[in-house]
Amino acid sequence: MVKETHLAKHRKEYSKSELSISDLPKNPIAGVKTWVDLAISEDVLEPTAMNLGTVNRSLEPNIRTVLLKDIIDEEFVFYTNYESRKGDEIKAFENVCLHFFWPELQKQIRIKGVASKVDSQLSDTYFDMRPKESRIGACISPQSKKIESREELIEKHEQMMKLDTIKRPKNWGGYKIKPHYIEFWQGRMNRVHDRIVFEKEDTDWINYRIAP
Ligand SMILES: Cc1cc2nc3c(=O)[nH]c(=O)nc-3n(C[C@H](O)[C@H](O)[C@H](O)COP(=O)(O)O)c2cc1C
Repeated sequence: MVKETHLAKHRKEYSKSELSISDLPKNPIAGVKTWVDLAISEDVLEPTAMNLGTVNRSLEPNIRTVLLKDIIDEEFVFYTNYESRKGDEIKAFENVCLHFFWPELQKQIRIKGVASKVDSQLSDTYFDMRPKESRIGACISPQSKKIESREELIEKHEQMMKLDTIKRPKNWGGYKIKPHYIEFWQGRMNRVHDRIVFEKEDTDWINYRIAP
């Protein structure tokens, strides 16, 4: 018999909005931008945070959160360490998944696409915009690698704070995701949620509704 734990009993009804195909622009990238802008204007905690799903060479999936920093030429851009776990996995398989969830808006978006590195000039430009502390953070962290202690990072950080110029390390930069599938989800009453899918067919986007 299933026990009624507090987890099993925990549920929310969604009734904030509804979603039809006609509510979304023909180009779903514009739709994503509208929803991210809405999340920003509604002051949700991390409006640009998206989960990035990748798979490793053993076909084990991994997910972590990254921040959407730009949408350029219809591609979604984030920045990271190219030698991190995600960097290794993207090198092995460029097919990735992005996922936004804004509980306050009762909305989520799933994006499937292909990742590639952005131009190094763009990475330089974004790197130079970051506060000094964040630039140093990118330089000193061998992201996803085993380290002996936190102290060694703090020490490197303090040393680098003495420098006037912090240049972008070559192992740090942006990825852009070229989407071929974008799904918009709006929570509705009684779990009859709205789901609208856009799929790229040659150069056009087709759209259709799927079941919740
Ligand atoms: C809200 C939030 C935003 C984050 N943004 C980034 C980001 O933009 N880039 C990044 O490399 N890591 C970011 N992180 C850290 C990643 O989630 C992750 O821990 C790190 O990138 C290492 O992942 P990996 O070992 O799978 O490569 C963020 C974490 C959180 C919680």
